[in-house]
Amino acid sequence: MPLPKAELHLHIEGTLEPELAFALAGRNGVELPFADADALRHAYLFKDLQSFLDLYYGLMTVLRTEDDFADLVDAYLERAAAQGVRHAEIFFDPQAHTARGVTIGTVVEGLARSLDRAEERYGVSTRLIMCFLRDQPAGSALATLEAAKPYLHRITGVGLDSAEAGHPPSKFRAVYDAAAALGLRRVAHAGEEGPPAYITEALDVLGVERIDHGLRCMEDAELVARLARERIPLTLCPLSNVRLRAVDVLEDHPLARMMAAGLMCTVNSDDPAYFGGYVGDTFHAVHEALGLGDEQLRELARNSFLASFLDDDEERRAR
Ligand code: ADE
Ligand code: ZN
Repeated sequence: MPLPKAELHLHIEGTLEPELAFALAGRNGVELPFADADALRHAYLFKDLQSFLDLYYGLMTVLRTEDDFADLVDAYLERAAAQGVRHAEIFFDPQAHTARGVTIGTVVEGLARSLDRAEERYGVSTRLIMCFLRDQPAGSALATLEAAKPYLHRITGVGLDSAEAGHPPSKFRAVYDAAAALGLRRVAHAGEEGPPAYITEALDVLGVERIDHGLRCMEDAELVARLARERIPLTLCPLSNVRLRAVDVLEDHPLARMMAAGLMCTVNSDDPAYFGGYVGDTFHAVHEALGLGDEQLRELARNSFLASFLDDDEERRAR
């Protein structure tokens, strides 16, 4: 039986497997610039975050209807459950869809149709986290929060993703303040490609409770000490870091050093259809490449529940 775990850093659009992309393209009459699913998969050679994002946003053109979003979540939950995921906090990127004329209502209602049955069908509890694209203007994030108001009963928190360098957290102070006033939880990607100072800003300016990635904190000893002292969870994604060239090979990943430094680490899959594995695969890979033993893998799994937005009773049940 796989170790029960929670997944806290998962972009639902990043679970779009090539085969499903082609099936949805066929259903929606969308032409993809690849001969078939294999040809698409062979294009997954990225040199950095931006080269991945270009393909990731491009492939989203196949997602058009509520059915498409529901099918996408079903496919993810089935795979995740098979790898021991008991709870998933799922990111989605509304602006990537509204920019193509797909309404936020279509996206949220479609996602929710699958999520509403996730416990019963897959034994997985779920939360939705709406991400703002940091390479878009701050006003667009505010408009997105406004457009999401009819759906806030389905949304637990807000996050910040997309191209990081040159887009500091402070650009989004107003929308994070507004989200907090609405009772939404807050997380943000920081220190994936951006500098350690972005991690500090995400904490101090945006008031986030978790840092997504946070990898580059290792360049700043004082920041590491603070993150450890304050038990700030980091949602690391080791396979993503290799594929997007933040580290050369998994054997070089600082996860083991981060754990030894007392950081509250979790491991997650980020965009598993693109990066070569779901979260169970990721646990297996860090065991093999970094020599993490059973006790460390159990610590990562325990942290994933502790760092989740489940309340204490829900957390105990999920574990
Ligand atoms: N959107 C999807 N995956 C992402 C990542 N790893 N970093 C930033 N934005 C993303
Ligand atoms: Zn991410």
